[in-house]
Amino acid sequence: MTKGLKQKIIEQVASDLEKVEIALEQNLNPNLKLVKQIASHLLFSGGKRLRPLLMIHSARLCNYYNGFEIEFSVLFEYLHAATLLHDDVVDEADIRRGKKTAHTKWSAPKVVLTGDFLLAAALEIAAKTREPDIISVVAKITRDMSQGEIAQLDKKGKLDLCEKEYLEIIKRKTAVLIQGACKSGAILAKADKEKENALDQYGFHLGMAFQMADDLLDFTASAKELGKNPGADIREGKLTLPLIHSLANASSKDKEKMENTITSTRFSSNQFEQLKEKLYAYKGIEYTEQKARDHVKKAKSYLKIFPDCQSKELLCQIADYSIERKV
Ligand code: IPE
Ligand code: IPE
Ligand code: MG
Ligand code: MG
Repeated sequence: MTKGLKQKIIEQVASDLEKVEIALEQNLNPNLKLVKQIASHLLFSGGKRLRPLLMIHSARLCNYYNGFEIEFSVLFEYLHAATLLHDDVVDEADIRRGKKTAHTKWSAPKVVLTGDFLLAAALEIAAKTREPDIISVVAKITRDMSQGEIAQLDKKGKLDLCEKEYLEIIKRKTAVLIQGACKSGAILAKADKEKENALDQYGFHLGMAFQMADDLLDFTASAKELGKNPGADIREGKLTLPLIHSLANASSKDKEKMENTITSTRFSSNQFEQLKEKLYAYKGIEYTEQKARDHVKKAKSYLKIFPDCQSKELLCQIADYSIERKV
């Protein structure tokens, strides 16, 4: 099922993706070779290009026909790449997309500054759109994302993180970017407010589902599938919804056992497997899957106002894929 859906999506966007790759390459023109090396290490290592695709097809869904949607959409991949470079430094992550992370090859300061360069590249393209509302969206995204990451860092290791706090964090660190990409497509197409709001909401719910799926995969997927190390979230002291829900429902004995695993800096794979069993037993996995499915359903409901077309179909499929994906 998953592979079928992924394949279907890729076939529909193959020609867009080719152009996105070219635009990503062409717009990346730092003076320094080192910046190019660090940025390219992440940028051209096999990302899904979800955010540019969302902007492109949101614009087309709103009948944009001026031909700049692909060129402008790469701003969201630069922004995404900037946040991933920063995120991996903050999370001290070793692997991304199956490759060693940039800060393990170059120093963290160099990587952080390259992230800043990519952020500036994104802003430059936002300015080229000559749409002040798109510039505002980009400013809001960077504002929210940095605060989401800081809030997460601040709450690192906090065992009583509640669902409300978790939702606030994932909204800021992930949903706003996906939401902003969709909304910007509508702005570019000069869509009316109803359509702009619908795409904004579609993006928000998709983003929430997307991060919940990421948090589930951290427990359920293999390193090979994921291209990242599973169990990384608890190793990083990050409590996510499957765990938050299970801890809230666990017996005091199980709760203590789970907390011991989470707080031990080095837990064995056996301990991780036992923890996972508890996440199933106390329905943290099931609960998170249900919440993610609810967001997908809501996301798709916001597309109802649009007439049927290829981009609408694609955005529906992307919503389904966001929680069925293995990577
Ligand atoms: C990873 O995003 C960061 C999250 C928001 C979970 P993606 O899963 O879109 O990453 P790439 O770009 O495809 O590697
Ligand atoms: C995702 O956070 C959001 C950002 C990258 C800003 P995560 O820390 O969960 O992302 P991964 O798991 O490292 O991709
Ligand atoms: Mg991370
Ligand atoms: Mg993650």
